[in-house]
Amino acid sequence: MSTDTIIDGLDFGPIACLVGTWKGEKGMDVSPEEDGSKVESTYNETIVFTVVGDVTNAGKQTLAVISYHQEVFRISNGEKFHDQIGYWIWDKDTNTVMHSISIPRGVTLLAGGTVNAGKFTATSALLKLEASEGGEWGIAQSPFMRNNAKTTAYKMAMKVDGDKMSYAQTTYLDIYGRSFDHTDKSGLTKVS
Ligand code: HEM
Repeated sequence: MSTDTIIDGLDFGPIACLVGTWKGEKGMDVSPEEDGSKVESTYNETIVFTVVGDVTNAGKQTLAVISYHQEVFRISNGEKFHDQIGYWIWDKDTNTVMHSISIPRGVTLLAGGTVNAGKFTATSALLKLEASEGGEWGIAQSPFMRNNAKTTAYKMAMKVDGDKMSYAQTTYLDIYGRSFDHTDKSGLTKVS
């Protein structure tokens, strides 16, 4: 197992530990129903994290970038019911982690957080991020979603320890005339 956070000469800091393919068998999703109730679904999932490399912005910000693809399947019927792509990005100079999320409902967001030096290793990290409408880290969504199923905020905590990963996230929605905390939590194991 690698002992530092440098991959191909680039320092990936606290996101180095993500690289690889992870599988989860016991996720729990809580989603809104039109009649005002909530639905709980257990799920399994695969998340593949791939090294992209470095990016330089405005000649002075250097970022280390990993892309990911998450596919989520309802355990009761095996159907895929969530698909998500985006990037995990590390800005070493400011100890900042960025997590972009794009989902095929017409919603995209960029969550951010800080992870201080000494708080992670090549194989472990605690990543806490958030985004909110109009906030420092923002949300973009289609006019339909803004008017009917608006994402107002998002927060996530992801923990990696060796070949184990867990996350808990809340997507704050305004839907069916009320506020709804749409939550997902899961535990995964690195398989390659
Ligand atoms: C493991 C992750 C997730 C799962 C399994 C999941 C699953 C679901 C399910 C089952 C619904 C109810 C509507 C339907 O049956 O399709 C739903 C609604 C919704 N989700 Fe997620 N979701 C996840 C993550 C997210 C994230 C990260 C966002 C936004 C950044 C998001 C945004 C929404 C929105 C806006 C709705 C309302 C759409 C509607 O019900 O009309 N979800 N999700």
